[in-house]
Amino acid sequence: MLVCTGGDCKKRGAKDIRKALKDEIRSEGILSEVRVDAVDCLGLCKHGPNIIVYDGADPKGTWYTGLDEDEAREVVGQHLKQGEPVERLAAGRRARKARK
Ligand code: FES
Repeated sequence: MLVCTGGDCKKRGAKDIRKALKDEIRSEGILSEVRVDAVDCLGLCKHGPNIIVYDGADPKGTWYTGLDEDEAREVVGQHLKQGEPVERLAAGRRARKARK
């Protein structure tokens, strides 16, 4: 998983999102199965906080943009733990919600 911690995403709460993701990964007991890397920018700065989840089923990755902490936890529980992307949150499968 790539978590953007660049300036725009940071302004929109990337630090809290990253913490929520890591806490939930730990809570779900999948810490040894998931790699979380921070990146400086994913190129969709105005839609952050942004993450990409890579798994064996989709080598292009699933983008999640504009996540809040509850949504981040949902991505861990459903996508990482159960292997099912959260369709309603995945970018390109929903209208992007631009943030200020
Ligand atoms: S700062 Fe996060 S996508 Fe650019």
